[in-house]
Amino acid sequence: PFVVTDNCIKCKYTDCVEVCPVDCFHEGPNFLVIDPDECIDCTLCEPECPANAIYAEDDVPAGQEGYVALNADLAKDWPVITTRKDPLPDAAEWDGKPDKLPHLER
Ligand code: SF4
Ligand code: F3S
Repeated sequence: PFVVTDNCIKCKYTDCVEVCPVDCFHEGPNFLVIDPDECIDCTLCEPECPANAIYAEDDVPAGQEGYVALNADLAKDWPVITTRKDPLPDAAEWDGKPDKLPHLER
């Protein structure tokens, strides 16, 4: 499956959700995750993310491997999102900042 990684946090552009054919994005307060049990590896979401936060599981950047399990866990708790909405207010400011995990809201 594909995985949402660190740079989505505090940006949440949501362009990704519009293209997913199986509606497997789930939304939290300041991050999105992909349900690995639903993702069919279509690859459509990856180029849609302005923050380049989406990777195939095998291509997750070094140091971000924990996001694989995090996507699986949070997908169980968070509701599905299928319609794009405005990014978070400070998205441009946070885009590209490293190590945002401490800012993840659940
Ligand atoms: Fe959805 Fe395809 Fe992205 Fe998987 S790879 S989350 S199926 S758009
Ligand atoms: Fe996050 Fe990128 Fe989607 S910032 S909400 S993974 S478009």
